[in-house]
Amino acid sequence: MLPRTQAKGPMMRRLILATLMTATTAPAMAQDAGFLPWRDPATVAQGQGIYTDHCAVCHGDRLQGQPDWQTRDADGYLPAPPHDPSGHTWHHPDQQLFDITKHGIEAIVGNGYRSRMMGYEDILTDAEITAVLAYIKSTWPARVIAVHDRINRDAAQD
Ligand code: HEC
Repeated sequence: MLPRTQAKGPMMRRLILATLMTATTAPAMAQDAGFLPWRDPATVAQGQGIYTDHCAVCHGDRLQGQPDWQTRDADGYLPAPPHDPSGHTWHHPDQQLFDITKHGIEAIVGNGYRSRMMGYEDILTDAEITAVLAYIKSTWPARVIAVHDRINRDAAQD
């Protein structure tokens, strides 16, 4: 009897674990749809440091963007937009924000579009890119977060 009980034990535990995981992750995903861990204080703190080191010089230390950010400069480039709710960062689903930060705007838009927003592929790891974007999202007020969650859900259905 003993060997049979031992064989059944781990299988039962796996089953229970699988059930528990479905039960806990499914509603969380339905709620968020995106993948940015903006509720995780440790990741957000890490992201804030990355933001200060790599992004604030253009996007502003209060995420306010550059002055006149909607007007192209003399060379035809757009200035850096704010990442606060007055900009349009929150219009983009997580995956797009990630791709923009990793590959840069020129690679994403194509067609010879020129932009000062370079890709951070060689500078930041994927986890660091995710962390800095999680920090940005964590600064938004609840209503903007709610809209952004919906944008993520809509993007997930495409
Ligand atoms: C050299 C200045 C500069 C730095 C540094 C910089 N950006 Fe940008 N970023 C820009 C500019 C300029 C744009 C808008 C470009 C355009 O639309 O042509 C932009 C756009 C973006 C966008 C798209 C926003 C939107 O609403 O479409 C994201 C996301 C972004 N940057 C994230 C980051 C992150 C994250 C960092 C730091 C890791 C960073 N940027 C560092 C200049 C910069």
